[in-house]
Amino acid sequence: MIKDSLAKALSDQFNAEYYSAYLYLSMSAYADRLGYKGIANWFAVQAKEELAHGTHIYRYLLERGVAPSFQDVKAPQAAYESLQAVFEKVLAHERQVTGMINRIASLALDEKDHAAYDFIRWYVDEQVEEESEAEDLVLKFSRIGDNPGLLYQIDAQLAARRFTDPF
Ligand SMILES: [Fe+2]
Ligand SMILES: [Fe+2]
Repeated sequence: MIKDSLAKALSDQFNAEYYSAYLYLSMSAYADRLGYKGIANWFAVQAKEELAHGTHIYRYLLERGVAPSFQDVKAPQAAYESLQAVFEKVLAHERQVTGMINRIASLALDEKDHAAYDFIRWYVDEQVEEESEAEDLVLKFSRIGDNPGLLYQIDAQLAARRFTDPF
């Protein structure tokens, strides 16, 4: 039996992952409208990953005999000041998600729910990767600034990203 507090935290996380997908899709639209199709692609892949996380957690709740609670997905902001500002927001968002994942891991440990701890461990590692990648992109975009040649290069680089289902 999964404890109520842990079930609730996992349900909230299922919804939070869908919000992340929504947020990244809005960033994809922002980049697309600026004409940066490669950056838009990077965000579209990021959004798909978040959907995969959300669905994975949703399935886990059902597996543990819990009815997942469906919450309103809040609207992300529609516009940004610059691409650098977008990636700064990504980093801030991923740091916030790390806090939520760590809280679930702590709850699982407190409740000696080894199965749930084992499940959420994957996300602990995933967040290390997410933060590191976001930090890297913030740094890159801060150096690129408005340089058209460098923007063209990074756009071509980010166009190469492909979605692979992690589960
Ligand atoms: Fe995620
Ligand atoms: Fe993420």
